[in-house]
Amino acid sequence: MLGGLFMSNCLIAQSGGPTSVINASLSGVIDAAINNKSINKIYGSIYGISGLLNDNIIELNPIFEGHKDLIDVLKTTPGMYLGSCRFKLKNESIDASQYKTIFSVFEKYNIKHFFYIGGNDSMDTALKLSDYANKYNIDIKIIGIPKTIDNDLFITDHTPGFGSAAKFVATSILEIAHDTYIYDMESITIIEVMGRHAGWLTAASALARTHYHDAPDLIYLPEVPFSPDAFLNDIKAVQKKKKNVIIAVSEGIKNDMGEFITASTSTKDSFGHSQLSGTGKALETLVAVQLGCKVRSIELNVLQRSAMHIASQTDIDESLLVGQKAVESAINGETGKMVSIKRISNNPYSIEIESVDVHLVANKEKLIPRDMINSEGNNITQELINYIKPLIIGEPVLPYENGVPRYLDIKHLI
Ligand code: F6P
Repeated sequence: MLGGLFMSNCLIAQSGGPTSVINASLSGVIDAAINNKSINKIYGSIYGISGLLNDNIIELNPIFEGHKDLIDVLKTTPGMYLGSCRFKLKNESIDASQYKTIFSVFEKYNIKHFFYIGGNDSMDTALKLSDYANKYNIDIKIIGIPKTIDNDLFITDHTPGFGSAAKFVATSILEIAHDTYIYDMESITIIEVMGRHAGWLTAASALARTHYHDAPDLIYLPEVPFSPDAFLNDIKAVQKKKKNVIIAVSEGIKNDMGEFITASTSTKDSFGHSQLSGTGKALETLVAVQLGCKVRSIELNVLQRSAMHIASQTDIDESLLVGQKAVESAINGETGKMVSIKRISNNPYSIEIESVDVHLVANKEKLIPRDMINSEGNNITQELINYIKPLIIGEPVLPYENGVPRYLDIKHLI
């Protein structure tokens, strides 16, 4: 009964930095919406909320309806199929024009359900739009779907996208360790991991450890003020026991004045976040000058959030599930909510999905509690390792073509 009395349309957008599995959440929303009798058309906004401001909207039914194979390929395609943005909506009291534009586009496409997949900044957008809809009595259900490799969202036990990035970081450091131990000579290897304020992903480097090696020997996180002197002393202490020192460091480490230890802090995005890079390089220079031994820094950079070939199956499954549950939540009449993961048990690992007030999540950053970091501030506790461990379990079987994974065509973004 297309276009029938009780049928409405939905719109999906993605925002912020990608994760290798954010498209699994998109796939979950599309699949659930196609199978929901009260949803008619499914639209996607290209480049997040800016797609709504520019009326850059595409219809997804012709692409995905009747094509379960494509919904499945989307599930294991890295990047963001709908494109992204880092765009902060002004407060309505300062400038209501953005809201008027967005809600006129909602009206134009008869949108009754809006799903925004993103991190804490994106939850700010979901919050502002749902508050606006409530204030003006506009019938549209707005649901946030969490994602971020940074794992820094409040309330949810962990964020979709973190487990896969954690698996990539742990695997890469294990492989780097195998490469490093080949030479019978002193060396220092510094691996820089993403995370501006929260060190969860850098902490995941500890999962590289096995019964035959304990790299990374040292771990530095943004939660603990970084001292170059203590850092050099830590290295010297490890060097007394072994030749090759492997160090994981977060891009967001700061000195005790709160200043980033990085080669460049000059540019900022629209949320005012510093664009960090070169933390590992800055430390490499410090070590080379002060200790004079062989030193190499490695920046994992965007590989850690795009490496679908080493994604966590647990993470893919959960990302899909939060997308499906978001549709259920909107259809049940909820709005101003974010779907959230609740850990029921660690061993065996099990979770439930719930929905929480987006006001409790937006604009906040969940940092690693200090008691999950050792007292010296250069390693993490077993409790933190146990928390991350189940999130990296399982390997997807990807379709391959000509020796590389087959991903979904994104020519609309190119
Ligand atoms: O938001 C996740 C994140 O990947 C951070 O860890 C990182 O600092 C940032 O995004 C980089 O964002 P961009 O690619 O937009 O510079």
